[in-house]
Amino acid sequence: MKGKKEENNLMEKIVSLCKRRGFVFPSSEIYGGFAGFYDYAHYGLALQNNIKNSWWKKFVDNRRDMYGINSAIILNPKVWEATGHVANFADPLDGKQFNTMLQTQVGAKADEVAVSYLRPETAQGIFINFKNIIDAFHPKLPFGVAQIGKAFRNEIAPRDFLFRQREFEQMEIEYFVRAEDWEKYFEYWRGEMLEWMEEVGIDMNKVHELEVEHGDRAHYSKKTIDFEFDFPFGRKELYGLAYRTDFDLKNHKLEYIDEEQGEKITPHVIEPSMGVDRSVLALLLSAYTEDERDEEVREYLKLKPNIAPVICAVSPLLKNKSELVEYANVKVFAPLKAEFGRVIWDDNGNIGKRYRRQDEIGTPFCIVVDFDTLADDTVTVRDRDTGSQERIKVADLEKYIKERIK
Ligand code: GAP
Repeated sequence: MKGKKEENNLMEKIVSLCKRRGFVFPSSEIYGGFAGFYDYAHYGLALQNNIKNSWWKKFVDNRRDMYGINSAIILNPKVWEATGHVANFADPLDGKQFNTMLQTQVGAKADEVAVSYLRPETAQGIFINFKNIIDAFHPKLPFGVAQIGKAFRNEIAPRDFLFRQREFEQMEIEYFVRAEDWEKYFEYWRGEMLEWMEEVGIDMNKVHELEVEHGDRAHYSKKTIDFEFDFPFGRKELYGLAYRTDFDLKNHKLEYIDEEQGEKITPHVIEPSMGVDRSVLALLLSAYTEDERDEEVREYLKLKPNIAPVICAVSPLLKNKSELVEYANVKVFAPLKAEFGRVIWDDNGNIGKRYRRQDEIGTPFCIVVDFDTLADDTVTVRDRDTGSQERIKVADLEKYIKERIK
C-alpha cells in the first residue's frame, strides 16, 4: 500500500506533467487562474478526443438502437422547474441548501430578460427532444439517445484538478425501456460500462462498484451504482449508472405510443453517465509509470496506442545530415502523417532525450531514420514500454501501426 505522501506526490506529478508537456493548463492563469476551470492543450485535447471517439464508436456508431444529439447548453428555464432541479439541485452550505446550477441572464430588454441556467447535466437536452426523436426516427423500444457535451455546476468547493470542476464535459445515454424490463437493462449497461472502461485502458484494479443508498441518490433516481476509482485523494465517483424511472418523461409530459401493446406508455430510463474529464484523469493515473532506465528514473504514460495523443514520432538520427532529414521527411513522416494524423516530427536534442520526451506524453512508437535506412529502406521502431527496437521496412510501417491501433 502506497503512503499518503507518495499518493499526493503522484497527483503533483500528473498536474505538473500536464502543464509542462501541454496536456492541461489552469484556465485564465495570467490573471491568477479561476477555480474550477481548466483549458485543454494540444495533447490533452487529443487524449480527450480519443476518449470521446472511442465512446461514440462503441455506444452510437456500432449500434442500431442509438441516436445522437447535440442540444443547446442553455434551455428554457421551465425545463429545470419541471425536472425539480430548481428545487432540489443543491448542496449544503453553512446549514442552508445552495443550488449549484450556474445562472445566467438571457435577453436584452428589461421585460424580456429571463434568468436561465447553464445545463448541469446533458441529460435534459435528450429528454426534451424525446418527441422530436420519435417523430423523426420512429425508434422501437428499447432505444437510446446519446450526447457528449459541456455541463456546468457552481460547485461549492472545486478541487482535485480535473475531478471537480465548474465547467466539465459529460458523455450520457438515456436508454428508454418498458417499465418491466428496467432491471435487465440496468445489468446490461453495467456490463457495457465496465467493458468500455477496460477497452480505453482504465486500471480495473482501481475500479469499484458502490450501490448508492437512498438518502445519497439524486432526486430522480430509484437505483444508482457509482463506479468509483482509487484516485490519489481517495476512492471517489468516476461514473454513474442510474435508474431514472419515468421521472423525467412524466415531468415533461412526454409519452410513447407502444404499437406492440396498442397503448400510450411512459418508457422508463436507464442512464449511463460518464464524465470526460474524470476519464482523462483516471486514464492519466492508470497510465503513469516510472521505471529505471540507464540509471535514471524514467516517467512514461502507458496509454493504449488508440488513446495516446500521438501514435508515433519520426526522427532523423542526426538533424544536420540533409540526406537523413529528407528521407525521414518525405518517405516516412509525410505518408504516416497523411494516414494517421497524430504523428509528430521530433529532431530536438539527442535520440535519448527524444525518447524520454515521447515517453512522457505516452507515444507508443518512435521511428528513427539512420544511415542503414539509406542503404536498405528499413527504420528502427522503438517500443515505449520495453524500450526495445526492431528494424521494420519503410513500406511496412503503415501496416505495422494499423495492427497496433485497433
Ligand atoms: N445525468 C446524471 C448526472 O449528471 P452525476 O453523477 O451528477 O449524474 C455524472 O454526473 C458524471 O459527470 C459523474 O459521474 C462525473 O463523471 C461527471 N461529473 C459530475 N460532476 C462533475 C464535476 N464537478 N467535475 C467533473 N466531472 C463531473
